[in-house]
Amino acid sequence: MRGKANQLKSPLDKNGILRVNNLRQLLLLLSLLGPLLLSCAAPETQGSATAPAAAAVPATSNTPAPTTEPIIDYRERFIPVVARHGMVVGPEELAAEVGAQILRQGGNAVDAAVATGFALAVTYPRAGNLGGGGFMLIHLAGDNRQTLIDYRETAPAAASRDMFLDAQGNLDHNLEYFSLQAAGVPGTVAGLLYALDTYGTLTREQVLAPAIALAKEGFPVSFALSFEINASAERLRQNPAATRLFFKPDGSAFEIGDTWRQPDLAWTLRQISDKGADGFYQGEVAERITTEMATNGGLIKAQDLAAYRVVERAPVRGTYRGFEIVSTPPPSSGGVHILQILNVLEGYDLQPMGHNSAAYLHHLTESMKLAYADRSLYLGDPDFVEVPVDRLIDKGYAQRQRARIDSERATPAAEIAPGRPLGDESTETTHYSVADRFGNVVSNTYTLNFSFGSHIAVPGTGMLLNNEMADFATSPGNANAFGLVQGEANKIEAGKRPLSSMSPTIVFRDGKPWLATGSPGGSVIITTVLQMALNAMEFNMNVATAAAEPRIHHQWMPDTLQMESGFSPDTVRLLQAMGHPVNISGRTTGRTNSIMLRDGWLFGASDSRRPGGWVAGY
Ligand code: GLY
Repeated sequence: MRGKANQLKSPLDKNGILRVNNLRQLLLLLSLLGPLLLSCAAPETQGSATAPAAAAVPATSNTPAPTTEPIIDYRERFIPVVARHGMVVGPEELAAEVGAQILRQGGNAVDAAVATGFALAVTYPRAGNLGGGGFMLIHLAGDNRQTLIDYRETAPAAASRDMFLDAQGNLDHNLEYFSLQAAGVPGTVAGLLYALDTYGTLTREQVLAPAIALAKEGFPVSFALSFEINASAERLRQNPAATRLFFKPDGSAFEIGDTWRQPDLAWTLRQISDKGADGFYQGEVAERITTEMATNGGLIKAQDLAAYRVVERAPVRGTYRGFEIVSTPPPSSGGVHILQILNVLEGYDLQPMGHNSAAYLHHLTESMKLAYADRSLYLGDPDFVEVPVDRLIDKGYAQRQRARIDSERATPAAEIAPGRPLGDESTETTHYSVADRFGNVVSNTYTLNFSFGSHIAVPGTGMLLNNEMADFATSPGNANAFGLVQGEANKIEAGKRPLSSMSPTIVFRDGKPWLATGSPGGSVIITTVLQMALNAMEFNMNVATAAAEPRIHHQWMPDTLQMESGFSPDTVRLLQAMGHPVNISGRTTGRTNSIMLRDGWLFGASDSRRPGGWVAGY
């Protein structure tokens, strides 16, 4: 592609104005812009003033010397993409290429992750965002340490425990999901800029320039983008600002190949580029958000935006048969439950059972149920409630939990803890993984909650708002939007972060980063990341095979074992005979974007469960 790119027509028209008519031209534009944008970049061995250690590590210091050839095993049915120096694996091509271009030109993994995050806000509007929040897990090669940047949304000061209940005490789902009140105070802009300032090496202007170019000049609508917008068109059309953003002036949908420009979003990104976080949380962007809120019944006020703070936290960590797993701490439940489940499974001899055999899936399922039952009771924002993380991920606790598992029979969920009525599932959020030549690795998951969030855009900003308030226990004791039963620990409180399942994770082998992974999917994020890691660690699969294998999901309530297509009918029958209420709904579980680092090479795989995923490496 790069070789061919030089033969493409220049995107500059006769007046010297940038015109981008197709994907190739856009990639050419990015490659032409790259040197310009990065002309002020530090030389590749020179770190930033704020974090020299992250980038100053020589390429060879933290990685084994590359083998002459990457090792590809032709006995595997799924082959990953291979690169030597740097890689971005994400849900959308243009944004992944933006990140890879940053890497090629001397940026580190954090620079690339931040540039990709801003670019996805333009090219992948269903989950890429400025109006949402997330978690970024970073492995810093220079310091040989990991850190977690929590940029989860917070409840506005005016939020209260029962704000989504009607006069009869029933949940008003429209208010909870599709109103301005559904929006938490966005964390994404603060989070990405905090990562850049603290651990990046490039300037704001450099990492934001590609996103601004994409929004301003436009880009060709892909099949995936067209499909996603059309799938949500009915609800997006209910909001005038979203209608202006996602549809042509005559109201019709963009066709595949049409150029989609987002001038308002370009303006918002320019405010951020020029003024940093203040360009979003104060000033004109903030005014546009608060005006919309005040006019149409939202709760976010100027003080809420000004008060938003990123929290840098210690990740949770545990071991599994010699691997170290580093993952996301509360206010996400993800890391805790992945470790809990692995601890329980470590007590079984899984390999002889066989991958995805009924015996293996039975033990996996029973371990999942126990962890999700704990989730409903113990997990919440650690700045508001005490979460017993150490006790939950303790190996001794796992041993006691293991004793509750009958190896022959499924234990009904109601016998694990009291049951509750439950709701539906969702498959939203997005994840991308980045690795650079310096040995740094980033695993980032961020979201608007639902696909396209609340489906409400802030007029004049080109930006959708999240509906993350629905991740609180909006009616404690009942299920949230993902069917997860939640308790008082996750009740709505002013300034609190809603409990998440987002699980950006890095697995270490022999002390070196070995697998960076994560997934969208609400409650299925945890079980998806778990199975991705188990497939690689326990069953020695390459990253593409580990992603492709069919997955199961059980979240304790509802007492249903969800199985993707691809399992043997014999296996399903055996599980049913053990008492598992199997549901083969035809739905898929999660969508990983992962990098495996092995023998000095990078192996990338974007899950084939959704269209448009991309591995960009060099
Ligand atoms: N909004 C999905 C999650 O945070 O897990």
